[in-house]
Amino acid sequence: MISIAPSMLSADFLHLEKDVEMVNRYADIFHLDVMDGTFVPNISFGFPVIAAIAKKATKPLDVHLMIVHPEKYVERFIKEVGADMVSFHYEAAGEDSAAILRQIRDLGAKAGIVINPDCPVEAIFPLLKKCDFVLIMSVFAGFGGQAFIEESYDRIRAVKAEIDRQGLDIPIEVDGGVGPANARALAEAGASIFVAGSSVFKAPDPAAAIAAMR
Ligand code: DX5
Ligand code: ZN
Repeated sequence: MISIAPSMLSADFLHLEKDVEMVNRYADIFHLDVMDGTFVPNISFGFPVIAAIAKKATKPLDVHLMIVHPEKYVERFIKEVGADMVSFHYEAAGEDSAAILRQIRDLGAKAGIVINPDCPVEAIFPLLKKCDFVLIMSVFAGFGGQAFIEESYDRIRAVKAEIDRQGLDIPIEVDGGVGPANARALAEAGASIFVAGSSVFKAPDPAAAIAAMR
C-alpha cells in the first residue's frame, strides 16, 4: 500500500488550516520537518506549530527530526503534541541510535531511522529490526524544493533487499524531490511512503498532484 505524506514545510503558514484540511481529505500522513540550525543549516518550526496542526489533523503525524540530540525531545513530540511516527538521523545519533529507537517505541510511537544521501546504507542494516520504518533522504536534509538525487533508487533497492533478507516487514519512506514524475519508479524500487513538499503545495491543484502520485 502506498501512503502520501505532504511535507508541511511547503504549506502556506498564513492559511495553515486550509492546508491541514487538504491533507486530511486527500493524503495519508502529515510529514513535519523539525530543523535546529545545527544538524542542518536551516531552522523550521517546533512544538507550537505542530501542536496547532495536531488540533485539526485527522491523519497520523510523522515528525522528521533534523536535530542533534534527538533523545532530548522525542518524549515531548510524542506526549505533548501526539506524534505517531518519529524519525531521527543516524548521522546525528550514531551509536545511540538503537537506544533512541527503543525510546520512541516505548513511548508508543513508530520509530524510524533516517539517512542522508552520503551515508552508506549498510550503516543502518543492524538497526532495521528495531525500526518500524526507514526514511531514505533523496536530497540532503535541510531545505524543501531541491532536485531529486537519482542514486536514491539504488539505495532504496539495497535497503529493501536487506529488509527482505532479514525477513522484516517495514515500509521505506522517501523524502526529497518526490512527485508524480518519479513516484512510480520509487514504488518499483521499494518505497511505499512518499514525502512530497513542493510537488504538492506548489502545484496549482494539490489534490490532483496527490492523485497523480497514487
Ligand atoms: C528536507 C525535508 C523534506 C522537504 C521535502 O530537509 O526533509 O521533507 O520538505 O520537500 P520537497 O518535496 O520540496 O523536496
Ligand atoms: Zn522530511
